[in-house]
Amino acid sequence: MIRTENGIFLLETENTSYIFRIDEKGHAEHISYTGRIFPSSEDIAAIAGPRDIKIGDGTYADEENPAYLPSNILYEYSAPGKGDTRESALIAEYGNGLITLDLVYRSHRIYKGKDLTDSPYALSSDHTETLELKLSDTIEPIEVTLFYTVYPEEDVILRSAEVRNSMDEPLVIRTVSSMQLDTDDDLWDLISFDGAWARERHENRRRIIGTEHIASRIGFTSSEHSSLFFVARPDADDSSGTVMGFNMIYSGNHLERIEKSPFSKCRILSSINPAGSAWVLEDGESFRTPEAIMTLSDEGLDGVSWNFHRFLSRYISRGCWQEKERPILLNSWEAAYFDITEDKLLRFAEKAAEAGIELFVMDDGWFGRRTDDTRGLGDWFENRDRLPDGIEGLSAKIHALGLKFGLWVEPEMISIDSALYENHPEWVIRIPGRTPSPGRHQYILDMSREDVIDYLFDSLSKVFSKNVDYVKWDANRNMSDYYSSNPELRHQGELFHRYIQGLYRLMSKLKAAFPEILFEFCASGGNRFDPGMLSFMNQGWTSDNTDIRSRIDIQQGTLRGFPPSAICCHVSASPNHQSLRKSGLDDRFGPAAFGVLGYELNILKMNENEMDAIKNQISFYKAHRRTFQFGRFRHLPSFDKDCIFWSIEGDDEIIVMEYQDRNGVNIGRHHRLIIPFADENKSYRIERREKYISPEDLGELGESYSKVQHKPFSITVSGSVLKKAGIALPNTFMGRGFDENTRLMLDNSSDLFVITPID
Ligand code: GLA
Repeated sequence: MIRTENGIFLLETENTSYIFRIDEKGHAEHISYTGRIFPSSEDIAAIAGPRDIKIGDGTYADEENPAYLPSNILYEYSAPGKGDTRESALIAEYGNGLITLDLVYRSHRIYKGKDLTDSPYALSSDHTETLELKLSDTIEPIEVTLFYTVYPEEDVILRSAEVRNSMDEPLVIRTVSSMQLDTDDDLWDLISFDGAWARERHENRRRIIGTEHIASRIGFTSSEHSSLFFVARPDADDSSGTVMGFNMIYSGNHLERIEKSPFSKCRILSSINPAGSAWVLEDGESFRTPEAIMTLSDEGLDGVSWNFHRFLSRYISRGCWQEKERPILLNSWEAAYFDITEDKLLRFAEKAAEAGIELFVMDDGWFGRRTDDTRGLGDWFENRDRLPDGIEGLSAKIHALGLKFGLWVEPEMISIDSALYENHPEWVIRIPGRTPSPGRHQYILDMSREDVIDYLFDSLSKVFSKNVDYVKWDANRNMSDYYSSNPELRHQGELFHRYIQGLYRLMSKLKAAFPEILFEFCASGGNRFDPGMLSFMNQGWTSDNTDIRSRIDIQQGTLRGFPPSAICCHVSASPNHQSLRKSGLDDRFGPAAFGVLGYELNILKMNENEMDAIKNQISFYKAHRRTFQFGRFRHLPSFDKDCIFWSIEGDDEIIVMEYQDRNGVNIGRHHRLIIPFADENKSYRIERREKYISPEDLGELGESYSKVQHKPFSITVSGSVLKKAGIALPNTFMGRGFDENTRLMLDNSSDLFVITPID
């Protein structure tokens, strides 16, 4: 709910309050963002405190207001030049390089729902309300409208800004932020999600002691630095303490600035990255930023994650797949790489159908001249040598096996060795007179051009209309040689944003034309994993790295801000193709089940026992699929540095995964399972999922192990016990042999437990 009285604005969600006011100088001054409070106007004055702090050498507003020091005020939206020397939300040039702006309140509007911006945008519901706050410069006709949309149930406030130029000269936007949040103190930790190819979104936490920039300059969101970040109280952990979470509904270059001011405040800004970017507004034109998601929880990091999960599932993910259970797929990439023929694909598919897999995905290598990664991109028609009956024929044969059929595309890219390049060399992003830099032997199409979008829409539509049920949309290189031949650009600095807008236009058209196709976004694994992509495609390829150990970090980081229904996880071969690490087949299944399950291995090489193990995994996953894909994810406490526990709570069950990094030899105690959110008024039945262990993994002990009659583990305990004392899990192998109760937990292993409440 949004309320306003006497210049005070109160934005309330079920568990949070966001307060600002129009101050004595007409600025929108932030007061507080906290867990839910019910303040009177006196209370609000008490929260803000009197304006009586003077700063030695500070610039103040005017002689009458010596304590009004812009560099020490909490603003809702900042601009340079009038004394606030911190990072600015908006830097816009007029009058041949002037940047000073003094943004003051003009009007506001509160309404149900939200105005829908250009794609991508968050959806709204009956509970959603929006505040539009109009500010403008005291002198120049430059206007900034701030949008705040409140989602009460998910504790989210969606932010964006629009800049309008009404001067009779151009205004050049250098920096424009989707949101600004100033906090009244600076005792915060910053948690960012960083990495690279095959090690995406690793969580990094540190105290904020200066100015931190989280940025992407590669043209996409990037696996180097996600636009998702948390600002947490130092004592906040997974389940307790105050944490704020932020992300942008955007897929291009982004910049997050977190600045500790000299006067013990913190400024938090999310923006399109200004590096190499400029946007020219003529008289009467405006620029609307992407939307930014802001949320707060007093229940720790998992509390913020739950807000993100609900918000993204309800208001970002959309279309007929939004709430539908996602099929289990087999992908051909690591099974065959470029070496595919219809015959081989059908053999994979037959075996997949036998295992209970539901969707077969033909990855790279099926089109044009694409027999390796040096050629073919851009030619979206089948290679008849490999697929004699074309896509249609293959799709019909796959469907006849009872499977859905999907394929891989990389629409934004072009190979020099392609028919498309021969016809349209001018469509490549490159600077005339300079040799462009390759990436994976390929180049990028200028998605700002309408003719490129039209070509892609036509050629992809032809493919997608051949009974295709699923599409994996890849993008495998970063942008370089920034130049567009599109005459519509007023400044080359518009390219990055116009590229992303073109991509969004293409995806919108294709989504509208093929509403039933399940789309999965991908970019060298998880190089463009963001809410912008999620608003067009219901799931994403998290990482090319499917090694169990690596996946723990990658999925844990991704789960911080994305729901399991968006996170695709494959069981792949051992040794793993990225890490060469060995792990058990059922161990790999543990983390892979905490998301959208798939397989990416040569299923024809599986022996009978392994096939049985895969069949069991699939029937287990299907039985608990709604929980795994749409449940509530939380971390559980662990008292062993080598173990972590993940839990996912569905309507009538909780599933727990224990992951063990290294097997502690002779540690002499049981691992303990505690569920702090167990209901004390209930009892719980805890059953361990029986695990397949390959005797080969046990070397010379394998033979004796297979002779043991292993006892299933199943007990019932009261909720209070599970919540507080926890239970001792069955003994793990510790170097002194095993009996019928021993759990074999090797290095990099996992175990699953199904916990059912009993009234
Ligand atoms: C990228 C993807 C992989 C695979 C290959 C195909 O690396 O992340 O999953 O599709 O491209 O070339």
